[in-house]
Amino acid sequence: MSILERFCLTGRVAIVTGASSGLGVAFAQGLAEAGADVVLGARRAERLEGTRKLVTDAGRRALAVATDVARQPDCQALVDAAMAEFGRVDVLVNNAGIGTAVPATRETVEQFEQVIDVNLNGCYWMAQACGKVMQPGSSIINISSVLGLTTAGLPQAAYSASKAGLIGLTRDLAQQWGGRRGIRVNALAPGFFASEMTDQYKPGYLEQQLHRVPLGRTGDPAELAAAVVFLAGDAGGYITGQTLAVDGGMTIT
Ligand SMILES: NC(=O)c1ccc[n+]([C@@H]2O[C@H](COP(=O)([O-])OP(=O)(O)OC[C@H]3O[C@@H](n4cnc5c(N)ncnc54)[C@H](OP(=O)(O)O)[C@@H]3O)[C@@H](O)[C@H]2O)c1
Repeated sequence: MSILERFCLTGRVAIVTGASSGLGVAFAQGLAEAGADVVLGARRAERLEGTRKLVTDAGRRALAVATDVARQPDCQALVDAAMAEFGRVDVLVNNAGIGTAVPATRETVEQFEQVIDVNLNGCYWMAQACGKVMQPGSSIINISSVLGLTTAGLPQAAYSASKAGLIGLTRDLAQQWGGRRGIRVNALAPGFFASEMTDQYKPGYLEQQLHRVPLGRTGDPAELAAAVVFLAGDAGGYITGQTLAVDGGMTIT
């Protein structure tokens, strides 16, 4: 196998959650360009249509399924739909997530639980459903955040806890499933990438944080999609249980 063939995903089937906007769209497109057929999940079914077209324009097959990852039966239904359509699941990108910033003394039970339900529990329901059907050689990529590793000047207890929890989940599933099941489980910790989530920042916030980023700029979603493709296939074949920061160096400062 040549070195470039190790990055090729032809014949593989990938599920991307949160594929209706932002980074999930770039992941779906990147995986399709690398050769994978892609199953798309998110709540806004109409927005998934745009992503579906990007995948088919890349010459791959796509399936869009309205999914709320906070609901375990929805996660099982998404994986069941992938199996019914394609007969296999090789890659899961656990990307669906919500971001909030609420001062700890004001945060309600509902606000905190909603973030954990989507960002952490949703990833576990998806991983469980995929882990039951994935064959050896499969790969799970959890989209954590630099906020799982450090702070960034906003009151984000729920978000940070969910993303740090995802790093622990990654480690544990990697040791549970690495042997006989042959499933690798890794996490990415993105820094700042333009998306609907980062559109919510107050003016000046991003500029202030960029002083901490040695590369001095926000990331291009395609640069994160490239890391997903690397971890998804044989190129990342000996990497499991790891969290890779794709953050322009932010977490070294
Ligand atoms: N952008 C960044 O700089 C950055 C940095 C670090 C980490 N991240 C992480 O990257 C991931 C993607 O974020 P983004 O920046 O691309 O934000 P985004 O544009 O807001 O996208 C979030 C995606 O998650 C989906 N989603 C939210 N709640 C969901 C639910 N209950 N069930 C299913 N899907 C749900 C949304 O779709 P629907 O609303 O249609 O359901 C949307 O497709 C998140 O996990 C985020 O924490 C982003």
